Amino acid sequence: MRKITRRQAITAASAGALGTMVNWSFPSFGIGNNVQDKLAINGGQKVHPGNWPEWPVWDQAEEENIIAMLRSGRWWRGSGEHVAEFENHYAALMGTKRCLATASGTTALLTSMKAFGVDAGDEVIVSPFTFIASYNVIFMNKALPVFADTDPETFLIDPSTIESCITDRTSAIMPVHIYGLPCDMDKINAIAKKYNLKVIEDACQAWLAEYRGKKTGTLGDAGCFSFQNSKNLPAGEGGAIISNNVEFMDRCTSIHNCGRPYGSIKRTSDYPIAGTNFRMQQFQALILMSQMNRILSDADIRQANALYLDEKLKQIPGIIPYKLADGATRSAYHLYPFRYISKEFNDVPRDRFIRALNAEGIPSGNGYGPQNKDGLIEDQLTSKGFKRLFSESRLKQWREQNMLPGNDKLCNEAVIFYQSMLLGSRSDMDDIVNAITKIYENRAALKG
Ligand SMILES: Cc1ncc(COP(=O)(O)O)c(C=O)c1O
Repeated sequence: MRKITRRQAITAASAGALGTMVNWSFPSFGIGNNVQDKLAINGGQKVHPGNWPEWPVWDQAEEENIIAMLRSGRWWRGSGEHVAEFENHYAALMGTKRCLATASGTTALLTSMKAFGVDAGDEVIVSPFTFIASYNVIFMNKALPVFADTDPETFLIDPSTIESCITDRTSAIMPVHIYGLPCDMDKINAIAKKYNLKVIEDACQAWLAEYRGKKTGTLGDAGCFSFQNSKNLPAGEGGAIISNNVEFMDRCTSIHNCGRPYGSIKRTSDYPIAGTNFRMQQFQALILMSQMNRILSDADIRQANALYLDEKLKQIPGIIPYKLADGATRSAYHLYPFRYISKEFNDVPRDRFIRALNAEGIPSGNGYGPQNKDGLIEDQLTSKGFKRLFSESRLKQWREQNMLPGNDKLCNEAVIFYQSMLLGSRSDMDDIVNAITKIYENRAALKG
């Protein structure tokens, strides 16, 4: 069982308060002097022992609930109360009229698109800098994902590049609040209104993030979430759709339950609309209900630590933390992203920097690659169905437009830390800063 340790609880509780008490007047951007230290990748001592908070965490009550559920045999949503209970709690947490729990974030997105009528031959504008599911769900609807460019500073869709992507086939915009960073929704919603497009927020990484004080997922026509194991609200797998549009939510409920009647989807027959089975299980909902007990306090701990890192890391040459988009007031910090500018590190390539950081006991990764050029794109564009649905000239034009300099730049520069690291102590955060400072100061020893 992975319970939160006493040390984590104490440091977590003090993290918020300390955030306002820190003295920034350090003699250098690091904490301590690392110049003489040999890098761990070259055989030196690690900055951090590597004992980061584990994820997911659970407690004895969760174990007992699951065993009771198992013994009851009431495992599917039709035979129990837990999925509906979770939906009510999640809708209340988000501040929306309705929530529908689904099997996953992918199925939440698929259901929303179907319910809004995104159909074969349509086009959907989406950010390229995202998990591949955001592309897949558009392709699965036999629609064409059209990539607006990414703003490398915010890691998000650049609203100024959206309008040129619109055609008479465009039916929706799918902004992705990647890593928990809220997109500039005022600009996106204004474009959607002008062209009568639906806005489906991919908030699969953005539980409790805020834009102008409102939760991500409540800002467009619908918001979709993921509860996969790595997520800040985990249940192994799981997802949710939230919206204030009752008719849309009825339609989603019906679609995800094999097209059975629900609410305004009247019983004109046993299966009045086309649907499928994307239902959440009782086990998932039970886990989510327990995980909800810590979601608010965890979010505050992550934020306090992330703001601390922002202040420290931006002082190191070549390290540029994410910038919140205009109007964004809070990130969910599913990941903590920054850009690594190699020329400030004597041209040490990013991958070598990441290897050096990992050797220091600081787990890190490089975010998403330029997936808009991945094999899956041509696989779909040259498929039998796509050739029927889109003209050769449209697909040629699409290929020519698939040049995204902002996204390419970010794919070369991004570095990420994992959300569970942000549940660590203030001294863990200091070790992150110290490790990067040590690498910077010893960058000459990383060459070759
Ligand atoms: C941005 C984004 N969209 C969609 C998904 C799909 O969610 P799931 O894995 O729950 O199907 C994910 C999951 O990682 C995601 O990160």
